[in-house]
Amino acid sequence: MRRHIVRAWTGALSLAAGAAVLPLAAPGPAAADSVVIGGSAVQVSDHPWVVAVASRDRFGGTRSGQFCGGAVVNRTTVLTAAHCVSADVLGAPLNEVRDLKVIAGRNDLRTSEGSEVTVSSVKTNPEYNSSTNSGDVAALTLATPLPESYVIPMAGQGDAAYRAGTPAAVYGWGDTTGGGQYARSLHAAQVHVLADTVCEEAYPGSSDGKYVAATMLCAGEPMGGKDACQGDSGGPLVAQGRLIGLVSWGSGCGRPGNPGVYTRISDAAKVLRIHG
Ligand code: ARG
Repeated sequence: MRRHIVRAWTGALSLAAGAAVLPLAAPGPAAADSVVIGGSAVQVSDHPWVVAVASRDRFGGTRSGQFCGGAVVNRTTVLTAAHCVSADVLGAPLNEVRDLKVIAGRNDLRTSEGSEVTVSSVKTNPEYNSSTNSGDVAALTLATPLPESYVIPMAGQGDAAYRAGTPAAVYGWGDTTGGGQYARSLHAAQVHVLADTVCEEAYPGSSDGKYVAATMLCAGEPMGGKDACQGDSGGPLVAQGRLIGLVSWGSGCGRPGNPGVYTRISDAAKVLRIHG
């Protein structure tokens, strides 16, 4: 995971700086017209709960400083991944990042549409484990509330949307090829929720992480090809109109047998005591 985080950060930073993107150790399959990986462009106005988490100081202004995704769960709270606000990703301790922002309603990151909201405080899950990636969630409190219409309901424990086989969509501005091609506009890919037994078999424990059913869920397609990737972290996985996961980790992007792993929202809301 550490490897992946550093890669995500290096990619974003070098992209912002206009320098060459470092080659990935194991690039995923490059698919034409893929986004997120194997997805397509969507309009943020149709999915207003998808936001970009950004810092121009840390990541440069080319793509509005975007480096992760997030989901609006109430008017003043955005959930993102805990690893997104780690010093590894930020390249500096969080308390030294003075311009952490949530960007809502901006489809194309090169424009100034929508709004930029200051993050006034960050609550990282105290149970986050950076070696397994368990509990990968942080709550960002916004200095000014977003409209109620931006809020997506969270799926509670036992919600039918978590059932294996449920169709779900993942959203983000991240790498669209597995080769460091960061999207300028929002993309989404359609995947299916997988059974815990499948996820456990795919990720019994390696340097990338270990599947923990209580705090994670995984989703993908049998042939691979559709997945989240670097830069999508913290962004929403949505099924049946409810938020079920946040992009957390995986081995490569879109590889068959290596589904995307997500922070399980029912557990995240419980440990952070977040209410919709
Ligand atoms: N850790 C990555 C990030 O920081 C997200 C990786 C998701 N990978 C996947 N194959 N679904 O953006």
